[in-house]
Amino acid sequence: MPRLRLGVLISGRGSNLQALIEATADPAHPAEIGLVISNRADAAGLDRARRAGIPSRVIADTNREHFAAEAHHALRGAGIGFVALAGFMRILHPGFVEGWRDRMVNIHPSLLPAFPGLGTHRQALDAGVLEHGATVHFVTAQLDHGPAIAQARIEVRPGDTEETLATRLLVEEHKLYPYAIRLFVEDRLSIVDDQVVVAETHKI
Ligand code: GRF
Repeated sequence: MPRLRLGVLISGRGSNLQALIEATADPAHPAEIGLVISNRADAAGLDRARRAGIPSRVIADTNREHFAAEAHHALRGAGIGFVALAGFMRILHPGFVEGWRDRMVNIHPSLLPAFPGLGTHRQALDAGVLEHGATVHFVTAQLDHGPAIAQARIEVRPGDTEETLATRLLVEEHKLYPYAIRLFVEDRLSIVDDQVVVAETHKI
């Protein structure tokens, strides 16, 4: 079986990209990363792609339409069938979102629908929640609102700061993202009435 080719969009550090690189490094994994795109030339994640021998592109995002057209073209050209946003910090053009509908996911550092947008750890601390987490969801036109695929949870402890929450949560994100992507690649996800249904076993 040919491996499904994954495109990863980043803007910065790329630790989730690294988790995906490591998860797909095994040739027996049903997916491989075929292209990494960054909207920033100084994203540390680009070095991670280079070290792993994965092709990468920098596409400036000064014009959203231009970025969408270039990125779409590059992804198509690389035979990409599925896109993962991993710390990609720009709102995508609606045409791009539509073009990758049901084939593009994002990881967001909160238990959606709680705390969409930026500053999620601050939002969690201010709200006084006892539990925080991360969500992998399909990307739709409405920011951080697409159907959720999987979540990871951490407890909020007395004395926690944005930094301690981010550090503890990141460890969970690095397990969650490869897990959620494997569900997609193994064709175990379907969307019914805007909700994700996870098939427990393979259909034969
Ligand atoms: C992660 O916390 C992710 O949930 C959010 O942005 C951060 C990206 O970190 N979308 P990294 O670039 O993957 O290290």
